Amino acid sequence: MPGFEGACEFPSARDHLPELPLHDWHGHLFTAIHAHESIDALLAPIDERLPWLDIAGLRPDPARARSFEFDAHWALYVENYLEGLHIPFLHPGLNAALDIGSYRYELFERGNLQLALARDGELAFEPPVGSPEHGQRIAAYYFWLWPNLMLNFYPWGLSVNLVLPLSPARTRVIFRSFVGDESRLVGGTGTGPGAGAGGALDPVEMEDEAAVIAVQRGYPFAPVPWRALFAGARAWRASVSSAARGGGLTCRYLPAYDVATHERNGWTLTRFSRHWVTRHAESCSTCCARATGKR
Ligand SMILES: [Fe+2]
Repeated sequence: MPGFEGACEFPSARDHLPELPLHDWHGHLFTAIHAHESIDALLAPIDERLPWLDIAGLRPDPARARSFEFDAHWALYVENYLEGLHIPFLHPGLNAALDIGSYRYELFERGNLQLALARDGELAFEPPVGSPEHGQRIAAYYFWLWPNLMLNFYPWGLSVNLVLPLSPARTRVIFRSFVGDESRLVGGTGTGPGAGAGGALDPVEMEDEAAVIAVQRGYPFAPVPWRALFAGARAWRASVSSAARGGGLTCRYLPAYDVATHERNGWTLTRFSRHWVTRHAESCSTCCARATGKR
């Protein structure tokens, strides 16, 4: 290289640009600066659950790309995503598309799945024979991959949400859409009556952000203990739970709707705080029974 003649030990192996792993998942490329997890292991539950979905046929739609920033800790945003209890209270539009009574959760080693049936007249998946959901009209498959990636599959395609911490009190969420079937974008925009759970994503995002910002306000704009942070999220959910049950429920979790959140918290927080897990790694039923004084 001109000008470097005679430079001591140049070039050496450490002067090369670093190589990053590149993983091709049905034509979608993943990389990581510090890959602590196997991307194959993270994505495996999606392949196992949706082998009938043409993921390779999904095409990026720049017109649907979004980037949101708001004043809250990133983990609060993830925590909110990981429970569906708030849907009837925060998302009237989404709630109108879902049969919220059928909302359910499944846990994986490195993530989870949330799904619900669609209401009559709303756009839905109709999974083929062999699928666990065959015969059901599924509104959406919401996959969360540890720790900050969400892959939301709708009948029209895929909405990817990447949650980026900017500071302890500020977060950016990047939305990228990949369309597989434009005919399922109701009205050409994907919004309006019958558009299903994947319609009008922007209003739902605003409603979620308002919720996590409200939780964040209870904490100083400085690094806070994980335990305190999640205690705040639990307290918020408890207030919703209490409202849902006419104030008669004292448990921090609604057993019918929030079981997976509880179990997931025990799992999730193994990455955050061993102390927290030591205290909360009990089963949901045990904790709820203790909280309500029923054991
Ligand atoms: Fe939400």
